[in-house]
Amino acid sequence: MFAPASGLKGVVRVPADKSISHRAAIIGSICDGPVAIQNFLAAADTRSTLSAIAACGVEVVNAESDNPVVKGAGLRGLATLMDTIDIGNSGTSIRLLPGILAGQSGSFRLDGDESIRRRPMDRVVNPLREMGVSIEARDGSYAPLTVTGGSVHGITYEMPVASAQVKSALLLAGLYADGPTEVIEPAVCRDHTEVMLDAAGARVEKEGLLTRIYPAERLSLDKVEVMGDFSSAAFWLVAGTIVHGSEITLKGVGINTTRTGLLTILLEMGADITLENERRQGGEAVADLTVRHAKLHGLAVGGGITGRMIDELPLLALAGAFADGETLVTGAAELRVKESDRITGLVDNLASLGVHIEAFEDGFLVRGIHGPLGGNFRSYGDHRMAMLGAVAGLASRDGVQVDGFDCVSVSYPNFLKDLESLGALI
Ligand code: S3P
Repeated sequence: MFAPASGLKGVVRVPADKSISHRAAIIGSICDGPVAIQNFLAAADTRSTLSAIAACGVEVVNAESDNPVVKGAGLRGLATLMDTIDIGNSGTSIRLLPGILAGQSGSFRLDGDESIRRRPMDRVVNPLREMGVSIEARDGSYAPLTVTGGSVHGITYEMPVASAQVKSALLLAGLYADGPTEVIEPAVCRDHTEVMLDAAGARVEKEGLLTRIYPAERLSLDKVEVMGDFSSAAFWLVAGTIVHGSEITLKGVGINTTRTGLLTILLEMGADITLENERRQGGEAVADLTVRHAKLHGLAVGGGITGRMIDELPLLALAGAFADGETLVTGAAELRVKESDRITGLVDNLASLGVHIEAFEDGFLVRGIHGPLGGNFRSYGDHRMAMLGAVAGLASRDGVQVDGFDCVSVSYPNFLKDLESLGALI
């Protein structure tokens, strides 16, 4: 039971960035020589990526720690050692890995859990096929995927949805192509793959929403230092804003602007969040963030910014429950194909806690009359849904019971410890 909190106070070092940890392991695996990853996210999803590269013959030293060393096998050095590579719950692993597997010799079969098997894979399968990659999917759209390495052609691809996973898969495949590969995104989405490939020596160019990559001869990275995950920090930014008497400092958080749409929107709604000690770490921007309780007003959010806050949009519904007026989110149909259907799950859950919220095909509307009263909340096996339920409980009148909370191990294994350190009662 997550009991109502009377003020969350303290300093939290949020877990390492999940997206960057995945990329460090994947790009590291095709570098020449060892890549030392500092502050790797030691959680279920990113462990899946490390096991996947190990299953392709890449040696990983200290794989269980948060400082693994990936002994890069070179651009074309991966091998088929197992019938099936199990990537568990990790969408980023199953969508990015085909990009590098396209340039290897041999066939690789990728599969995952029930949630992964329901998620659309045609978004990477179709453009990779256009690049000449041999890739098979169940019913053309779903895991398991089988990728057989071979020749790759450079193409220009306009993505129908703003997906960093699709963009990344194509840019990685572009390393092996016979000419440049161009990916055009309909709206800005996270650019960590481009940033890291550039640091590893690949030739990458950006022109607005277009990213161009050239075939590579070799990549090398000595080390990658991973910063705190903005998407994990987001739970505390909202908790600190809506729980009376709170003041929370979050140390060393990534503030790459392709990720911080929630910060922009919360500030527009009246939140009290300050940034200090802004610095750069391996091409990425980092800062310490301090959030204090504040009164909010509702806002309409849609269009381009949703791609910069796709994983944080559900949290906005909770913030909206405390805001004056209405908070409207549109243009976010992608939420339906995440680890769970995050529109249906969110709206059913918050409505059952007494929040005035209604669902649309591509978003939701919240009337901020009062925050959650209390009751039961279902995680649907989705880590971000589970943590949202916990934050709802802290800000509720009567407390919230989250069923299936264990799935937080996917991205934030120490969530409860951090919550206790802020003075909350569980
Ligand atoms: C991610 C991209 C996003 C995000 C996911 C991580 C990434 O997915 O929701 O949690 O690391 O590239 P999409 O590419 O499907 O938008």
